[in-house]
Amino acid sequence: MCGIVGYIGTQAASGILLEGLRKLEYRGYDSAGIATVLEGEIHCVRAKGKLINLEEKLAGEDNPARIGIAHTRWATHGKPEEYNAHPHMDTAKRIAVIQNGIIENYRDLREELKSRGCEFRSDTDTEVIPHLIAEQLAESDTSLLEAVRLVVNRLKGAFAIAVISADYPDELIVGRQQAPVVLGFGQGEFYCASDTPALVPYTRAVLPLENGELARMTPLGVEIYSFDGHRLKKTPRTLNWNPVMVEKQGFKHFMLKEIYEQPGVVRACLEAYFDGEWAATDADKSPTHLGLPPELLTDLQHIQIVACGTSWHAGLVGKYLIEQVAGVPTTVHYASEFRYAPAPITSNTLTIGVTQSGETADTLAALEMEKKRRSGFTQPELQSRLLGITNRPESSLGDLVPHIIDTHAGIEIGVAATKTFVAQVMAFYALALDLTYRRTAKSPEQLEEILIGLRQLPAQMEVVLESQERYIEELAHDFAETQDFIFLGRGINFPIALEGALKLKEISYIHAEGYPAGEMKHGPIALLDAKVPVVAIAMPGAVYEKVLSNAQEARARDARLIGVTPMDEQEAADTFDTLIPVPHVDELLSPILTVIPLQLLAYHIAARRGLDVDQPRNLAKSVTVE
Ligand code: F6R
Repeated sequence: MCGIVGYIGTQAASGILLEGLRKLEYRGYDSAGIATVLEGEIHCVRAKGKLINLEEKLAGEDNPARIGIAHTRWATHGKPEEYNAHPHMDTAKRIAVIQNGIIENYRDLREELKSRGCEFRSDTDTEVIPHLIAEQLAESDTSLLEAVRLVVNRLKGAFAIAVISADYPDELIVGRQQAPVVLGFGQGEFYCASDTPALVPYTRAVLPLENGELARMTPLGVEIYSFDGHRLKKTPRTLNWNPVMVEKQGFKHFMLKEIYEQPGVVRACLEAYFDGEWAATDADKSPTHLGLPPELLTDLQHIQIVACGTSWHAGLVGKYLIEQVAGVPTTVHYASEFRYAPAPITSNTLTIGVTQSGETADTLAALEMEKKRRSGFTQPELQSRLLGITNRPESSLGDLVPHIIDTHAGIEIGVAATKTFVAQVMAFYALALDLTYRRTAKSPEQLEEILIGLRQLPAQMEVVLESQERYIEELAHDFAETQDFIFLGRGINFPIALEGALKLKEISYIHAEGYPAGEMKHGPIALLDAKVPVVAIAMPGAVYEKVLSNAQEARARDARLIGVTPMDEQEAADTFDTLIPVPHVDELLSPILTVIPLQLLAYHIAARRGLDVDQPRNLAKSVTVE
């Protein structure tokens, strides 16, 4: 949701800023812009559309400026036109500002500024900021930092900003209120960015700004202040990332690379969450080591999961596992709904926020609301118990909740979530088994059986990738012109049907619906004809025969049937027109395998259509606005 990047130091800023934007383009790509301070003036260049358009505009420029800010936009206020692109400037063009987030009170501020004669050049909420800073500087003989400080105190909403001024050529001011921004520390050069991938090529010494903090960056160092003006003492920490992690490494798209990284991610999760040696004979110790305190998980009567999009689908798999294996009643809520219509308060309730980015505004707000509404109670059973499942423990979620399960997927750049979904599901296996053990909901032998199955998953995932990718690539040719798809699943594979449909929608722009297979006959079956392919996930287990019958119902309506089903299953082979075989696996563990063909199908259909797989239209990787 918009990417911001800033640089001050000893090198030409524009190359570093453009490189930073490239790494942040997954956050938004409606327009891009850059501003530097050069010979006492602000030099600002902006372009509508993807970063490449800005790069073309800048081609041939030799700009030696050593300070600058840059922005890639996901439009919220105002169309994706050049005049709405950031940076925005004050009337005299002495101040340039970039912002990620939303200034909620911008209308009032705009009217107020207009009443004093200020003319606006854009429709954005951001433009009020440079005008207000200019007014502060004109009114009193104050510093740039102080002017920015006074202005951020007037802003309402969630925002991260970076400010430069032609009159302060050695200062970059950065501020954060509920939207992420990380500072990077080099030798005599300093950086800021919405996310760490923009920093890792230059430094691994980083400091995420916290809410209500400002940074004054100069070539001599970085000072941190609170919004009320107090100087704060902070120490950077070292990231254990390397720059290669944010490159495509020979793959055509990040999404394909990330699909292929999944077996490694599952191995990392197995190592992080489970005792690798555990067997039924070790029943006096837990098979998991999540490091969660007993008071978080004992006597649980209810678990509520809040999440958005793909993370919500992972939550649905989590609900199945927690209810069916550990026996704890669980509800899953869209965070955007829960925050305004929460379920009534129940006793001994664990609330889990699932968000790969740790920055999704709705998920954070739902968790904050839950924390707040329970803070008034003195009875221990009504107090909040919060847990986060995230790929970014250093994110805003990490600040908000006291306990985190880190999903260990490594940075995900493709806008469509793939490996982070699989890692979230792994986190739920671990949590469900942890609860199962604590509650003795299954025998040690049953637990051991599940663990043995989990340990085999990475190799089985590799089999799917090796044996199916070429085939699915060819299959994708058949669907280049298809307009509608149906995905069916039941039980633990119903969320996988939803996920398959979401992947296809978001990157191929084909309409797709995920449905519980048994519900088809209650309406959606009317959509079916020879032009609508149906992908059904049919894994032997509690609902195998049922899914095959539901698939037959679709076949009777001439739909082309594609089955994600185990190898050598005769009944499935007789039912489906096309088979995408996966290894035999316990139904309970099957989502980790069945999701892969659906990811590959979506990927290859989109790639075949020549679409921008990693940056699909209208989307952004991290949705930091409501
Ligand atoms: C889909 C996708 C989105 C995200 C959703 C939540 O591929 O990526 O649906 O899952 O925006 O994002 P996080 O998990 O960061 O809260």
